[in-house]
Amino acid sequence: MKATRCTSQRPPKTPERTEVIRLADGRELWLRPVHPADAAPIAGGFELLADDEVRKRYLHPVKELSLSYLTQLVNIVPGESFAIVAAEPLPPGEALVGALARLNRDPGQDSAEFAILVSRFVAGQGLGKALMLRLVEWAKAHGIRRLWGEVLDDNTAMIELALALGFRRETSLESPNLLHVTLDLDPKRKRGR
Ligand SMILES: CC(C)(COP(=O)(O)OP(=O)(O)OC[C@H]1O[C@@H](n2cnc3c(N)ncnc32)[C@H](O)[C@@H]1OP(=O)(O)O)[C@@H](O)C(=O)NCCC(=O)NCCS
Repeated sequence: MKATRCTSQRPPKTPERTEVIRLADGRELWLRPVHPADAAPIAGGFELLADDEVRKRYLHPVKELSLSYLTQLVNIVPGESFAIVAAEPLPPGEALVGALARLNRDPGQDSAEFAILVSRFVAGQGLGKALMLRLVEWAKAHGIRRLWGEVLDDNTAMIELALALGFRRETSLESPNLLHVTLDLDPKRKRGR
């Protein structure tokens, strides 16, 4: 069964730009920009991931998230990077984080690389699509003309999601087991923050 897709509303005492999404299983989550206080919950959530989820997200095995990686992940650089989480409806730092999508502008370019992970506890309920659409929205508003990512060729879920969003797939130059997926955008001319 599908989630009731995003009901946008702005609950009080929440981070700016919070949206509420109700999943098919009845859970209510907040979609909101990542906050520095999310670092500990994200690190904790990483411990619960299955090896295959980690492999598909990072393209190789990863045992733990380094402090420097986490710091970079939760501290976005305005105009250059963006990350959005699906988290419990609690203040950042108290909320478990079930999914995260981020993009990083390629230095000096009008392209950006995306990455996403929706944990299996909340997968299959529309979150992946909702988060990817927020990345596309942000990219367009910030003058990015091409969104791209590397996906393992056995990652049917991500390949199907990307194709459903209009990405095209190409063989990756990095490895024969990787696909390069690209979405050409028609950004608004003005660069926001
Ligand atoms: C890929 C991933 C982000 C999908 O997230 P999700 O929340 O489960 O996806 P959604 O429920 O929004 O599904 C959206 C679309 O994706 C595709 N999809 C999702 N899961 C799928 C599956 N198991 N098999 C085939 N297609 C699937 C479908 O096209 C689906 O649309 P539909 O429901 O209308 O058929 C999630 O499985 C994940 O995080 N995987 C591990 C990490 C990873 O692979 N990251 C990508 C590399 S950066």
